Amino acid sequence: MELFDVYPLYDITPIRGEGAYVFDKEENKYLDLYGGHAVISIGHSHPAYVNALSGQVRQLGFYSNSVKNPLQKELADKLEKVSGVKNYSLFLCNSGAEANENALKLASFHTGRDKVIYFDKAFHGRTSGVVAVTDNEAIKSPFNKGHQVIKLAFDDTVALEKELKNEDIAAVIFETIQGVGGLDEASSEFYQKTSALCKKFGTVLIADEVQAGYGRTGDFFAFQKHEIRPDIISIAKGMGNGFPVGGILIGKNIEPKYGMLGTTFGGNHLACAAGIAVLDIIEKEQLLKNAQDLFEYVKNQADEIPQIKKVKGRGLMIGLEFDFEIAQLRKELLFKHQVFTGAASNKKLLRILPPLNIKKEHFDVFFNVLKIALK
Ligand SMILES: Cc1ncc(COP(=O)(O)O)c(C=O)c1O
Repeated sequence: MELFDVYPLYDITPIRGEGAYVFDKEENKYLDLYGGHAVISIGHSHPAYVNALSGQVRQLGFYSNSVKNPLQKELADKLEKVSGVKNYSLFLCNSGAEANENALKLASFHTGRDKVIYFDKAFHGRTSGVVAVTDNEAIKSPFNKGHQVIKLAFDDTVALEKELKNEDIAAVIFETIQGVGGLDEASSEFYQKTSALCKKFGTVLIADEVQAGYGRTGDFFAFQKHEIRPDIISIAKGMGNGFPVGGILIGKNIEPKYGMLGTTFGGNHLACAAGIAVLDIIEKEQLLKNAQDLFEYVKNQADEIPQIKKVKGRGLMIGLEFDFEIAQLRKELLFKHQVFTGAASNKKLLRILPPLNIKKEHFDVFFNVLKIALK
């Protein structure tokens, strides 16, 4: 059977990973500054993670959500401790899109409303509701276009207030730092005003931390810098270091009811084991601090390269904006110098999304080859 051909593929086949590197079968070594699209948080095949997952699969890999699974509560408690956000409940699912889809559904249940506000350049996933609030018409089918959605400019609280005043908006969904969109971040005033307006007009505020969360920005959640408290926080990517797991943290103002959300696979034993191991390692290896420290290191090195016009992002969610389109440079870094990097909808932006336990030496390797490639 042929595979359904939706991915333009690089002719590279990694078969094993170790820390910040992946290897093909000829043992060619690739430096992973892309983290499989911001997914690899604690490094490839971290020994403690491998032990946790293999121990769990030997014991019990899966049972359904119709029985007690104490690992879910252990994960929730650990998440509260490591993230520092209090008084939320956790619902577990399998991916970022599913997390956001559940967030929108819950907001609609809670408010009895059906309209959702999203922002320019937003990316929230590809399932029905979340692709409708994603700023890319090319990936919306006619079916997806049936949702009640309003797109606004990022950082425009006047337009936002005008819409929210009608008191018919279920949710405002935002990424604190836009990932796919190109690492834009609005001002603290914007997030604070948005939060206050949502409270005033009874709208649920959803922070999509699928990409920026889990320590990637040097804070556990990117919104924490702006001192707001979203009603719902969606998570995925770094949460399982590659094991498919996602979730939403739900403020206590939103009441659960049996059956309002549900999933077969979400929160299964293996997913929880992966999630707990990731949090243990983030805490033990102080990966938030590593992300903060390395941003400064990268910024200083990038400032010495004249073709880089701007360094965007925070922590290890970094965008290097060049004065030319980077598609060719990205290919050269990969095929000549064996370094994985990412792209964005901004064609001049090279995205750096490495494992959070990456070291300065890895960036030295990167900047050396970048300088060669730019000559
Ligand atoms: C901010 C954000 N939200 C949601 C998603 C969708 O996540 P998934 O691909 O796991 O469905 C992504 C994926 O890139 C993302 O970057």
